[in-house]
Amino acid sequence: MSSTKFDPLAPAVLRDPYPTYAHYREHDAVHWGEPGEPSSEGTWYIFRFNDVVDVLKDPRFGREVHRIKPQPPPEYPLLADIASKWMFFRDPPEHTRLRGLVSKAFTPRVAERMRTRIAWHADQLLGAAQKKNHFDVIADYARLLPTTIIAEIIGAPAEDCAMFLPWSIALAATLEFRQTDEVRRQGAIAVNELLSYLRALAVQRRAAPREDLLTALLQAEDSGASLSDDEVLATIMLLLTAGNDPTEHLIGNSLLALLQHPTQANWLRANPGAIDTASEELLRYDSSVQATFRYALEDVEIHGRHIAAGQHVAIVFGSALRDTSYCAQPDEINLTRHSGALPYGFGIHFCLGMPLARVIGQVAIERALAMLPNMTLTKQTLEWEDRFAVRGLKSLFVDIS
Ligand code: HEM
Repeated sequence: MSSTKFDPLAPAVLRDPYPTYAHYREHDAVHWGEPGEPSSEGTWYIFRFNDVVDVLKDPRFGREVHRIKPQPPPEYPLLADIASKWMFFRDPPEHTRLRGLVSKAFTPRVAERMRTRIAWHADQLLGAAQKKNHFDVIADYARLLPTTIIAEIIGAPAEDCAMFLPWSIALAATLEFRQTDEVRRQGAIAVNELLSYLRALAVQRRAAPREDLLTALLQAEDSGASLSDDEVLATIMLLLTAGNDPTEHLIGNSLLALLQHPTQANWLRANPGAIDTASEELLRYDSSVQATFRYALEDVEIHGRHIAAGQHVAIVFGSALRDTSYCAQPDEINLTRHSGALPYGFGIHFCLGMPLARVIGQVAIERALAMLPNMTLTKQTLEWEDRFAVRGLKSLFVDIS
């Protein structure tokens, strides 16, 4: 058993978490480490692939800790109220009800229909980049593409898309493993502004329906489906909160891996038909979602470790994806292997947006390789976001001349 407490925000772990994960998989696979939000005592970390899957399918682990342990009153009541309407934070039966209505909007067929549109947006952003000598893959491309697509799916007018970016950044930070007071305060401001914006948009869509997600959800609600007005708007907010951030860093982390492995990048340029397996493998290799969390809703024993009811549990996808029980030679990139869908979770909370995220990721990588054939890494010290649930770079400068 390892005596050092795992700290996911230690600088060495932020730079490269994989050797540390390997250590814990080997020596202390169910580990009592540094606390994550909102636990103040400690967090259990689950490092091995088989245990990750077992915990995710075990109903003794869930999200609604308030059912077994009284929680302090929320600091920001509106933020707490909206989050309580997110399927992400609910267990069945509420989870099933909230997810049921919106799941039809996120099928592979619906995502596939967006492919040409996504490529058009990608080409616009890359076209702007081509006019410069070098550009920041994160700020100029990876961050803008998913927000624009998701705002468009929701039904926001094109001229409003720019407003969605700061809202989605502020909200995504509230899902993080550890948060400062400032993060919560910014999250509360974003919820307030976004709710007012969406309420006004809902009035317009009721008066003049359009072919967009907001109209579809409002019409479903009007025809007696099981979501209330506020639940529809909260669900729309969740899509922005949960969707932009991991897709941004899917693009950023994948392009970084290709820039660091130019032979693989050149192979993919020559074999663009392999983009589906390639983008899945790049996500497995350095996943944007490193971890999620649950609470033990009753006492559970795993490998002789006693997890008490109410304790906080981090499920470390980033480690499971590098476990030899998940795939052979996990520290190597193999763009032709079928890497599986574990980066998108497992069980009832399995990523709702996976079909869309896959198409955005494939298009974003394929278009960047095609339009920027001479792209190389600029000399820089890579700086990773100070986060655990989502892993991504603050910036990624490349020369494209
Ligand atoms: C590369 C991009 C993405 C990755 C790696 C990813 C990963 C995940 C994972 C691991 C979960 C499960 C969390 C858990 O079990 O606690 C999840 C849930 C979710 N994702 Fe994604 N996601 C991505 C993109 C998206 C997109 C584009 C959307 C929507 C527009 C989306 C919407 C959601 C929602 C709504 C949930 C909660 C589902 C539930 O609680 O039932 N995600 N995602």
